[in-house]
Parts: sequence; structure tokens; C-alpha cells
Amino acid sequence: MYKLKKDIKNYLDLHPNVKRRVLSLLFKRKPYQTRLKGIFWLITILPKHIRYGIYLSTRLDLVPFNKFRFGKYAKLEKNVVVNNGMGDVIIEDEVQVGIGCVLIGPVKIGKYSGLSQYVRLLGMHHGIDPIAPHHHLPCSTAPIVLGEDVFIGTGTVVMGKKNGETLTLGDYCRIGANSVVMDDIPPYSIAVGNPAKVVRKWDFTHNKWVKVSDKPVMEISPDLVAPLK
Ligand SMILES: CC(C)(COP(=O)(O)OP(=O)(O)OC[C@H]1O[C@@H](n2cnc3c(N)ncnc32)[C@H](O)[C@@H]1OP(=O)(O)O)[C@@H](O)C(=O)NCCC(=O)NCCS
Repeated sequence: MYKLKKDIKNYLDLHPNVKRRVLSLLFKRKPYQTRLKGIFWLITILPKHIRYGIYLSTRLDLVPFNKFRFGKYAKLEKNVVVNNGMGDVIIEDEVQVGIGCVLIGPVKIGKYSGLSQYVRLLGMHHGIDPIAPHHHLPCSTAPIVLGEDVFIGTGTVVMGKKNGETLTLGDYCRIGANSVVMDDIPPYSIAVGNPAKVVRKWDFTHNKWVKVSDKPVMEISPDLVAPLK
């Protein structure tokens, strides 16, 4: 099944006119109206709500040629938006996605991770040059990967990298509420602010969080120490 989907995707990538026709069947014509056409919603999307137990108020804008994986015991709360038009959306087992979150693929969320309310994972950028309406400009992907048991505080925006490299939030990292994450966050760390910076790291020796200072550590010159010996 996966191979068939991959073949269809490759075929559509090589035949942009056919792809345009398929997309016109799926989506309404006007570019700012992206709800799937009713009949396709019934056939392709509604079964996903039933199969996975996802709230009907969750908006699944899913195209068939990109992947949408939903792990065991994962949960999408009310009014979540999921869009895989630009890339796969992979939600691993026991992931909790809070009310009003927005997931724009390509996005991968590792198992046990938790997104509080209104978190936005934005795996794509559209052009911003003032030469045409922004939604007519080409889009580029900016993949986002969350490791295992990543916790993201409410209202946070994770914005994929503009150079198209993958932005990674390492295993067990915690992101403060209302942060804006624009770069990788290492595993076992707490990052906060806009742009998010690491403020705590997990100390495995003492099993506690330790403060990370952003002030430069003063280096002591050996010449200063020598007379004391
Ligand atoms: C990030 C967070 C997990 C850290 O909690 P904590 O381990 O108790 O850490 P602290 O409160 O000691 O904060 C560490 C530092 O980050 C700062 N900080 C914490 N959260 C912050 C935030 N959201 N924005 C900016 N700075 C923040 C603190 O002021 C502190 O600064 P300092 O080093 O100068 O003292 C927590 O502050 C947070 O934001 N939680 C999310 C809450 C949430 O979304 N709840 C909904 C649950 S469904």
C-alpha cells in the first residue's frame, strides 16, 4: 500500500497537470478555501475520524499522496488542524495534542510527546516577496521532528528552518509557554522565550535541572595563577 502511494506521488510529481486536476477535485478552487470537497471528505477523511476516534471538530486537511500516521492511544483534542499537503504528518503512540493546535507537515511527533493548547508546528513557508498575493507564491518545506516525550507549553510556535533543514527538538526537552522556537533544541533541556533559548539542562549525576548561564565564563590566565603557587 505504501509503495503504491509512493508510486502515485512520484507520478504526480512528474505530471504537474494531472496533479493540478487531482488537487482541484480535492480542494475548492479559491486558494484560500482549503476545505476538502464534501464527497472526498466523506470517503477519505470521515473514516479517519471514526477509525482513530478523532473529534469531528478536528480539521483534517489530508491529501492521499502524503502520509498521515496516527499512533496507538494518541489524542487530538478539539479544534486541532492537521495539514499534510506539503509533507507527511506522523504522530507516534501516546502523543497528546491539545485544544486548538495546528500541525502543518512535514512534521513528526515522537511517542509520549505532549503539546499543550494552541501550539503551532509549522513545517512550511510560503514566499513573502511583494510580487503576488502571498498564497500564490511558491511554498517550501521546513521539516520539524520532535523526539520522544517532548513537552511544549501552551501558545508556542515552532517554525521550521527557512533553509529547509530539519528542525529537531531532542528527546525529553521542555519548551516554555508562548515561546517561539526557530532552531534545534538539544535533548534533556528546557528552552523558553522568543527566540527560544536553553535555560536549564538535566544533570544526570544529581538528577535535577541545572541552570544554564548565557553569560561568558571568565577565563583565568595561567600567568595570574602562577604567582599564587
Ligand atoms: C518551561 C517550564 C516547563 C519550566 O518550568 P520549571 O522547570 O519550573 O522552570 P522555572 O519556572 O524555574 O523557569 C526556568 C527559567 O525559565 C523562565 N521561564 C519559565 N517559563 C518561561 C516562559 N514560558 N517564558 C519565558 N521564560 C520562562 C523562568 O523565569 C526561569 O528563569 P531564570 O532562569 O532567570 O530564573 C514552565 O515554565 C512552562 O512554561 N510550562 C508550560 C505551562 C503550560 O503550558 N501549561 C499547560 C499544561 S496543559
